[in-house]
Amino acid sequence: MVSARLTIDPQFAVGPVNPRLFGSFVEHLGRCVYDGIYEPDHPSADADGFRTDVIGLVKELGVSAIRYPGGNFVSGFRWEDSVGPKDQRPRRLDLAWHSTETNEVGLHEFGSWLEKVGSELMLAVNLGTRGTLEALDLLEYTNISSGTELSERRAANGRKEPFGIKMWCLGNEMDGPWQLGHRSADDYGKIASQTAKAMRQLDPSVELVVCGSSSAHMPTFGEWERVVLTHAYEDVDYISCHAYYEEKNGDLGSFLASASDMDHFIESVVATADHVKAVNGSSKTINISFDEWNVWYLERFQQVDKIEGIDNWPTAPRLLEDAYSVADAVVFGNLLISLLKHADRVASASLAQLVNVIAPIMTEPGGPAWKQTTFFPFALTSKLAKGAALDVKLEADGYSTEVYGTVPLIDAVATFDAETRTTAVFLVNRSQTEEANVTIDVTSLNGAIVLDAQTLSDVDVYAKNTLDHPDRVGLNRNKSVAVRDGLVAITLPPVSWTALHLG
Ligand code: AHR
Repeated sequence: MVSARLTIDPQFAVGPVNPRLFGSFVEHLGRCVYDGIYEPDHPSADADGFRTDVIGLVKELGVSAIRYPGGNFVSGFRWEDSVGPKDQRPRRLDLAWHSTETNEVGLHEFGSWLEKVGSELMLAVNLGTRGTLEALDLLEYTNISSGTELSERRAANGRKEPFGIKMWCLGNEMDGPWQLGHRSADDYGKIASQTAKAMRQLDPSVELVVCGSSSAHMPTFGEWERVVLTHAYEDVDYISCHAYYEEKNGDLGSFLASASDMDHFIESVVATADHVKAVNGSSKTINISFDEWNVWYLERFQQVDKIEGIDNWPTAPRLLEDAYSVADAVVFGNLLISLLKHADRVASASLAQLVNVIAPIMTEPGGPAWKQTTFFPFALTSKLAKGAALDVKLEADGYSTEVYGTVPLIDAVATFDAETRTTAVFLVNRSQTEEANVTIDVTSLNGAIVLDAQTLSDVDVYAKNTLDHPDRVGLNRNKSVAVRDGLVAITLPPVSWTALHLG
C-alpha cells in the first residue's frame, strides 16, 4: 500500500489561477476544423455550418482562450486567403501537413464560432514564410476600428466592430527543423523583437508570446531561450513552451512520470528568463505561455499517418487521431497538476488540440461526437480550479523510472477560492499495482466538508472510448473519502486521477 500526506493551507499560495491556463488550440490540420467543428451537412449543424453537438461539448470542457490557426500550418499561411467572399477564396497547398486548405473556414467564421463557445481568440502570425509587414496588416485588419484600408476591408467583409485580439504568438516552433522558415535563435530573436515592437506601435495593448523551444529535449533547449530573450526580452510578455508525451517501448512507469519532466521544463525556462532579466537589469518578468501540451503518439504519426506524393494533397484527412486510454488520461491530468503547481509563472496554456486531432473530443462525419478519456480531467479541473494555486507540502513514497530516475508515486496540487471558500485538490496515483492511502490535513480550512470526489481509473488501464463504445470510460464517485478531526482520508486506485472538492 502506498501512502502520502498533504497539507492544505490558503497561506501556501503559489500564484493566482489564470483562467487562460484552460485554453486550447485549433489548427487547420486533419479534421480539427473541417469535419470537426465545421460540417455544414451534419444533422446538428447550425446556419453557419458549425456542429452544435461539438459546441455543446466544447462549452462543457470549459475552454478559455483558443490558439489559432496553427501550429506548423501558420508558417505557410496567408491570412488574406481566409477572409472575403467564400467563393473567391483560394485553395492552397498546406506544406506542413501535406494537405489542401480550402479556406472555407477563416478568421471571420472562426471568430463567430468562438462567440458561440464563449472563448477568447489567441492568434498566431506567420514568421516562417512571412514577416513584420504581414503581421502588421493582420493586426490592422483585426484591431483597428475603422478608417484605414484594412479595417474598412474587415467591415466590408461583414464585421464592423474590430476583433480586439489581445494574445498574439510571434510564429510557431521556430526552433524546429521541420518548421517552414526555421531559423537560428539569433535570427529568430531579431525578427521577433522587430515584429513585436512594430505590433506594439500599432496597438500597445497586445500581449505577445515569443517562441521558446518545441520541447525540452531539443538540442538547442536552454540556449534557444537565452538567445531569443536576449533580443526580445523588453518587447514581449511571454515565452512559449511545447511538450508532448507518449508511452514508449511499453515503459508505463516512465510515462506515468511525464509531469515531472514538465515540472523540470517549466522551472528551467523560468530560470533562463530570470537570468536574462538579471543581465538586462530589467524590472519586468517574463511568464510562460505553455501553448501546446498533451499526450501524443508522435511515433505512430511518423510511421503510419504521414502523407506523401506530389499529386496527393487530401482535404481534411484523418491525421493524428489518437484514441486515449485511462493511462493517457492519468498522465494528462497530471500535466494539468504540473501547470497549476507553477501558476506563479505559467500564465496561459493551450491543450493541443481540441477536436479530432490529438483531441479530447472526437466526431464522425454525419455521426456522433464523443468524449475521450482526457475530456474528464480537463473539464473537471477547469471547472473546479479557481482562485489561487496552493503548494500542498506533499510527502510521498517514490518509485524508480527508467527515464526520470526516482519520482514520487503521488502528485498533487490544490486551489483555494477565497470568494466561495471552496478548495479543490487534484491527485494522481502513479503506482501500477498499489492503492494509495492519502491523508490531507485541512485543519486550516476550519471544518471542511467534502462536496464531491471523482476518480478516473479502470482495471484495464488501456481502456478507451471509441465510436462503438463512446461511454466505456468515465468518472466515478470516490466513495472512500472521509473527514475526521481536520483530516481528510481518501484511497486512490492504482493508475488514477482524482479531483476532490471541499467546502
Ligand atoms: O499540435 C500538432 C503540432 O505539434 C503543431 O502543429 C506543431 O506546432 C507541433 O509540432
